Amino acid sequence: MSKLKTLISEGAGKINPISVSDYIGVGGYEGLKKAVTMTPEQVIGEVKKAKLLGRGGAAYPSGSKWEHLLHIPETPKYIVCNADEGEPGTFKDKVILGQLPLKLIEGITIAGFVFGAKAGYIYVRGEYRKIQKQLIQAIENAKKANYLGDNILGKGFNFDIHIISGAGAYVCGENSALLNSTEGKVGRPRIKPPHLAEVGLFLQPTLVNNVESLASVPAIVLLGGEQFLKIGHPDSGGTKLICLSTHSAKPGVYEIPLGQVTLRDAIFDPELGGGLKNGKQLKFFHLGGQSGPIGSPAQLDTPYSYTDLRKAGLSVGSGAIVVLDETVSIIEYLKGVTEFFIHESCGKCVPCREGNKQLYAILEKLSVPGAATAADLANLRRLVTTMTAASFCGLGQSAAVALNTAWKHFKDEFEANVNKTPAAAAA
Ligand SMILES: Cc1cc2nc3c(=O)[nH]c(=O)nc-3n(C[C@H](O)[C@H](O)[C@H](O)COP(=O)(O)O)c2cc1C
Ligand code: SF4
Repeated sequence: MSKLKTLISEGAGKINPISVSDYIGVGGYEGLKKAVTMTPEQVIGEVKKAKLLGRGGAAYPSGSKWEHLLHIPETPKYIVCNADEGEPGTFKDKVILGQLPLKLIEGITIAGFVFGAKAGYIYVRGEYRKIQKQLIQAIENAKKANYLGDNILGKGFNFDIHIISGAGAYVCGENSALLNSTEGKVGRPRIKPPHLAEVGLFLQPTLVNNVESLASVPAIVLLGGEQFLKIGHPDSGGTKLICLSTHSAKPGVYEIPLGQVTLRDAIFDPELGGGLKNGKQLKFFHLGGQSGPIGSPAQLDTPYSYTDLRKAGLSVGSGAIVVLDETVSIIEYLKGVTEFFIHESCGKCVPCREGNKQLYAILEKLSVPGAATAADLANLRRLVTTMTAASFCGLGQSAAVALNTAWKHFKDEFEANVNKTPAAAAA
């Protein structure tokens, strides 16, 4: 039986992405047509039954988020789609944005209907310039076909979608920084609470969801939450778009049912990653982007689901699976990860701004035989704890996750270059 599904990627790469009639030909807009016959509570009930977990990385239950927003009386409410896709090794939203933009537009329109919103915003990664232009065309075409704009489907519901170009900073993917950037302010995270559901875009109640989360909504409405749940794992319904990269023999985006494919299948199955390039051995894999955990071959039989990965000390995150072969030094790899965070830290708080630089300095020492001491290793551990606990936002809090998990599997490599002479130990 095939390990692939096309629950949300049906038609991707096969239809003209901006053509409404092509989209309808692959089942498009059936979800919206059904949604407008339901009450907001009924739609949210299906999202809850589906157990859709946010696909942007934090895995927050979308049904609870939607329910919370529905009960907030203030208006207007805004719908914001996080299409910043700044996580290295992650390029799955690009497939939806570039090949099935109308699926996302349909999902956002359903959200607009549920919350009685008048406007939605898609905050698109700055580098996706061609995609931004195409999205604008797709929005225009949806309006012409009465699936967007005034009096949608004759139901007296008016809703428009605007495209915002991202600022080119990783931190702008953090939902509150994203809203600041959308408002034209510096893209730095806000203090929470207040939560964005209450005080979001332009200080109004706001829904922020990832591209893949919103693109799952038409299928949830159409199939019903229970059916959607059955396709995936009992704790988290549906499918996940995964991105295989680096030393994978078949890098790319694949849609898999949650919980029914193991990490081994994802990396080695001929239908999916097909193993490693040049017949090399797997040394480790990095899940969910730079801020995600590193796993070892001993964990390959873990099913790819939010629950199973969490139990194994791993996580789904954005869906990235960076595959690394036997030639890669774990210390050199972690230096690259830490350089990324030094570059992307917004500088607002000390644990992240300075902590990443200190981590890098110690990793640099660990890469030179005899340069580091046992005290450096102890400092490394302390830094990880401080940064995780004291950083202001998710960027700093998760910057050391890769290092922390690599430590569990590759402690020998961390210790290999440490100067163990009595003088160094006493220093
Ligand atoms: C530093 C940082 C970067 C992030 N980048 C993204 C991103 O590029 N895309 C995304 O959807 N979520 C990103 N997130 C997660 C968002 O803050 C938020 O959880 C998400 O947009 C909520 O949507 P979801 O519940 O549908 O996943 C990022 C979080 C942090 C801390
Ligand atoms: S943790 Fe602090 S310095 Fe780092 S990105 Fe967040 S707010 Fe900025």
